[in-house]
Amino acid sequence: MEVIIKKNYEAISEEAARVVKERLLEKPDLVLGLATGSTPLGLYKELVRMHREEGLSFKKVRTFNLDEYYGLSPDHPQSYHYFMNANLFSQIDIDLANTHIPDGLAKNVGKYCLEYEEKIEKCGGIDLQILGIGRDGHIGFNEPGSSLASRTRIKTLEEQTVKDNSRFFKSIDEVPRYAITTGVGTVMDSKEIILLASGKNKAGIIAKAIEGPVTSQITASILQVHPQVIAILDEEATSSLKRKDYYKFVEEGVKKFKKHV
Ligand code: PGA
Repeated sequence: MEVIIKKNYEAISEEAARVVKERLLEKPDLVLGLATGSTPLGLYKELVRMHREEGLSFKKVRTFNLDEYYGLSPDHPQSYHYFMNANLFSQIDIDLANTHIPDGLAKNVGKYCLEYEEKIEKCGGIDLQILGIGRDGHIGFNEPGSSLASRTRIKTLEEQTVKDNSRFFKSIDEVPRYAITTGVGTVMDSKEIILLASGKNKAGIIAKAIEGPVTSQITASILQVHPQVIAILDEEATSSLKRKDYYKFVEEGVKKFKKHV
């Protein structure tokens, strides 16, 4: 795992957007795995800016979102459909037919989830997956105890997650208790992954996910065995990492090396 430590939220957003842009220029029909929540907002803002000011085109890009609350319709202001349209899709030149978000109103959920997996496969798999991390270590909505080989399915949300996400709803009772989420196995099949985290309240879980043992109790810890993960984290989110100085030392080395080749 490459650990990149930046000063603050703005800097991690810019760095993540820089990597997305680089991959997009290499492969205009990139298959992007997208995340919701507060963390990727800055990245999406920066991608919108790059589209407007630098002409970065998303015309051929295919996207798959990690998850959606079960029971929310796409026009619900807290649905991830709404989030993606408001914060990214409506502001770039993407073809909406190429975007995929789990259907929070799917009826035959088992069949629906299998079909979501098949669609990813048909596109050739996810090239670059963007991830945030929950305070319980979840990636997507893969809560503690999720199988590390899991695929897309319906999950019950952890109490911590319901509490954390209640800030977006009028009351905690309105927070859905279930979500359709791609699995840990689905995420691990991505060719490359960017893990983003910012702020003090992520420091404890980032230390466990990056430096602790690999365990289904912290599903993000499985990223340690993925061959191509870039963790882009800010100073606050890395304040509990034991080997922080080492990651900075390595990153300096990588920069110098890149200048030589
Ligand atoms: P956040 O959520 O970006 O709003 O902190 C992250 C997550 O739950 O995956």
